[in-house]
Amino acid sequence: MLKKIIVSLFKEKLPEINNLQQLPDDVFYEYILERGIMLLRGFFRFGRFCFIGKNVCVKCKKRIKLGKFATIHDGSYIDASSQKGIIIEDYCTLGRNTYLRTGNVSSYQGYFIMRTRSSCNNNCFLGATGGLEIGENVLIGPNVTIITEKHNYEDIDAVIKEQGILQIPVTIENNVWIGANVVVLGGVVIKEGAIIGAGSIINKSVNSKEIVAGNPARLIKKRDEGTPDS
Ligand SMILES: CC(C)(COP(=O)(O)OP(=O)(O)OC[C@H]1O[C@@H](n2cnc3c(N)ncnc32)[C@H](O)[C@@H]1OP(=O)(O)O)[C@@H](O)C(=O)NCCC(=O)NCCS
Repeated sequence: MLKKIIVSLFKEKLPEINNLQQLPDDVFYEYILERGIMLLRGFFRFGRFCFIGKNVCVKCKKRIKLGKFATIHDGSYIDASSQKGIIIEDYCTLGRNTYLRTGNVSSYQGYFIMRTRSSCNNNCFLGATGGLEIGENVLIGPNVTIITEKHNYEDIDAVIKEQGILQIPVTIENNVWIGANVVVLGGVVIKEGAIIGAGSIINKSVNSKEIVAGNPARLIKKRDEGTPDS
């Protein structure tokens, strides 16, 4: 009975809650309790309806725009200390132990934008100091690393550390799926509907609806054509 009331209260705002009805009662109530605590924490920390886990560390909170029912899971570190800061739209999720940073002492130009209903799984490193935009409905698997800067190294006689940093933004368009343990290097655009195989290194842009995999990643299939000829 209580289960039905909870589901009917939230089904307009959180359509996914309908799936929870099939869960055994103990699992359902444990999930609802955890979400309830996260919602309260979100309300007190951000003044709006969002879900915030335990031990979430936030720097420069004023530079973060958090959408409704967005989730930041336990142990995440979110640093928005850049001019443009962080935008996380409605229903987005950052998994446990996400490390997300848009600025540091030598760089304030970074930004992070995550559009509606996108998510990243646990233990992702989202280095957005050079700028990172993620479209709508993007799925990012666990342990993914995204890099948006590189060290200059042209002067052979100088220490690499002292040659400065180049910012090279990354864009991930709508409806992309990135598998587990992928590394995305700076300057890359992953176009709409592309899929990145688990463990891949992405050092070049990926075309729309392509499936790429490996180190460095190569085309393995086109979603609209089957396997490539060569
Ligand atoms: C990329 C992926 C979706 C492709 O799946 P698929 O369409 O079923 O492709 P197939 O398994 O038929 O593989 C096609 C070819 O690509 C190769 N391949 C597939 N995935 C690969 C990967 N991650 N790295 C390297 N090669 C890969 C296969 O070995 C096969 O090569 P072959 O034809 O020479 O034997 C899948 O392999 C994958 O990596 N999924 C990610 C899963 C994941 O990380 N989930 C995390 C939760 S979000």
